[in-house]
Amino acid sequence: MSRIETLLASMTFDEKVGQLNMLSAGFAVTGPVLAGDVTDAVRGGLTGSLINVFGRDATNDIQRVAVEESRLGIPLLLAFDVIHGHRTVFPIPLAEASSFDPDLWERTARIAAQEASADGVALTFAPMLDIARDPRWGRIAEGGGEDPLVASLYGAAKIKGLQGNSLASPSSVAATAKHFVAYGAAAAGRDYASTDVSERTLQEVYLPPFEVAVESGVAAVMPAFSDLSGVPMTSNGPLLEGWLRKRMSFSGVIVSDYNAIAELVVHGVAADLTEAAALALRAGVDIDMMSSAYTLGLPKALSRGLISMGDIETAVRRVLQLKERLGLFDAPFGRSAEISATLPARRETAREAGRRAIVLLKNDGDLLPLAPKSTRIALLGPLADAATDMMGSWSGAGRAEEVVTLLAGLREVPHLEIQYARGVGIDQEDDDGVERALGLAKSCDVIVLALGEARDMSGEAASRSGLDLPGDQANFARAVFALGKPTVVVLSSGRPLAVPWLFDQAGAVVASWFLGSEAGHAIADILTGKASPSGRLPVTWPRSVGQVPIFFGERPSGRPASDGQYTSKYQDLPTTPLFPFGYGLTYGRFTYAGIEADPTVAGEGDLITVSVRLRNDGRSTAEETVFLFIRKPVAHVARPLLELKAFTKLTLRPGEEGRVMQILPVEALRFPDPDLRPRIEAGEYQILVGPCADREQLLSTTIHISESGRG
Ligand code: NOJ
Repeated sequence: MSRIETLLASMTFDEKVGQLNMLSAGFAVTGPVLAGDVTDAVRGGLTGSLINVFGRDATNDIQRVAVEESRLGIPLLLAFDVIHGHRTVFPIPLAEASSFDPDLWERTARIAAQEASADGVALTFAPMLDIARDPRWGRIAEGGGEDPLVASLYGAAKIKGLQGNSLASPSSVAATAKHFVAYGAAAAGRDYASTDVSERTLQEVYLPPFEVAVESGVAAVMPAFSDLSGVPMTSNGPLLEGWLRKRMSFSGVIVSDYNAIAELVVHGVAADLTEAAALALRAGVDIDMMSSAYTLGLPKALSRGLISMGDIETAVRRVLQLKERLGLFDAPFGRSAEISATLPARRETAREAGRRAIVLLKNDGDLLPLAPKSTRIALLGPLADAATDMMGSWSGAGRAEEVVTLLAGLREVPHLEIQYARGVGIDQEDDDGVERALGLAKSCDVIVLALGEARDMSGEAASRSGLDLPGDQANFARAVFALGKPTVVVLSSGRPLAVPWLFDQAGAVVASWFLGSEAGHAIADILTGKASPSGRLPVTWPRSVGQVPIFFGERPSGRPASDGQYTSKYQDLPTTPLFPFGYGLTYGRFTYAGIEADPTVAGEGDLITVSVRLRNDGRSTAEETVFLFIRKPVAHVARPLLELKAFTKLTLRPGEEGRVMQILPVEALRFPDPDLRPRIEAGEYQILVGPCADREQLLSTTIHISESGRG
């Protein structure tokens, strides 16, 4: 008999349920319900996993209780939210997505996994694969943005980085694809609110990143807190058991979100914890994170005949299998002490990730990079020296004292003389420092204005109804602009901020999101021209909160916006965004020409090579991101105006020319027909290539897809 079957045969009912119970050890607070001392539960075999514990000594101590003092000695599964770095904090996911660099996504995850496993962590709740098209939703900060292809590639890279080549490697951490599914479609952008998306949108937009995650071998999946058309995801059998396990053949663990099983009662689909536990278990949820519904409810659910012992054992088997795959039975303590990259190398990767995440949104008259002669810089604003905020939401084991702020980063630049004044707070009514800041700015050559959100204004439970600058910052910024000095705005936020007036008045603006431990160095590298910006927007940037949800993949409508009265538009606002998806300037200037597709007539199974010529007419070497979209102008289903199918990068020196080749598999043209059966429709397709999702800036060519093979 296998180890797992032998164990199962010797487990009591309580021990079985214990393996399905996950308690919070209280090192970090990530939910509303708190556990007390968990040691007795561990000793009694009443909990099989813990979250919110990390650190070699702490994890070894509690693991020792499980292995040496519990009856069966089953090791604990120790979990922690390592979302964008552990001790070395990398840019928040939305920022990292802006780099459009899967290799970087994987490298930062690898470092995070090594640091976390050295700290005793075996399971993490990342990557978040939720598509987010509504920046009111604070969790837009935690994912790859609005596009399913980007989220899929982001997820695959993170899973590879976290899990390594094998889960058994001591430096691998089991990944969790979350939050399954459509959580980002929360009504009105309010976290935890209901979602109601069509079967087509599920298939085309929300499910693909999870499909790729399963193909990438993700160890766990977490259902979302939300309900989908009335069926909470925590009890959504058709999607969990049906789609995920049966259709996608997912054989890993399904772990509930924090307290989510008990919340089935609040959703109104279960009368009590017993029903809630039965619903979740039958839907395929193996682990109950912090709701006690399994501990309290499963015994009664069994006696009421709502579930069978077989249902419980199936879940226990999956949990034990994960522990076995992680090698915990053989090596339960301090998974790995080794971190292959040195600390300076990890910090350098964080700095590189930060640089590559920064998106240059405006640069009038080439104000950036700062001219070497602009030596006196007034650095103003509440985000200029905000170490904790730079870590963004979820900072793992990161420490504010190890964060390089913008002030610290700029002060290290030899030829710059930095005068610093905070001016105002982030969101307090506090204008005490304004006069001093303005006075100091008057004597300087250039102003760098660091504005934005506090880190807890995005992330979980951090939705906002407005997308403005909080507190007194808008007034402060207007007063600074009124000085008439060249002003660079560095905008730190977990979402796009709808501040068109700021973009009108600033000379240059960079979106720096929250960049983590090396934020200040990374921003300084870009401002001083040590590196050319290469980040691009992974989300459409609205002019006003009234435009959301806003995304490039919308359908044309029968009455597209135009000057005509009866068209799909606003009376008081353009329908176009402030900046399209993919937008981002560099210190180079790229022109595109000569788009070609080969073959131009193709069929199922074929690969189409799309090429385009680029030239850098600017004065600096720069990296361009090239996007490949398609559009099917006539189909049996109205297709999105643009669908992203590939992106790639090219670096060119001033005056240099290059060619970019991208492969478009005909398979990527498949979409659900009117009966929701995925098909490749024959006919004409436009291929559009260029720097962002603004149609005017895209070169296009046409291909024909035949019914069978090449025509
Ligand atoms: C709730 C969040 O929704 C989830 O993303 C996170 O992993 C858990 N809490 C655990 O902290």
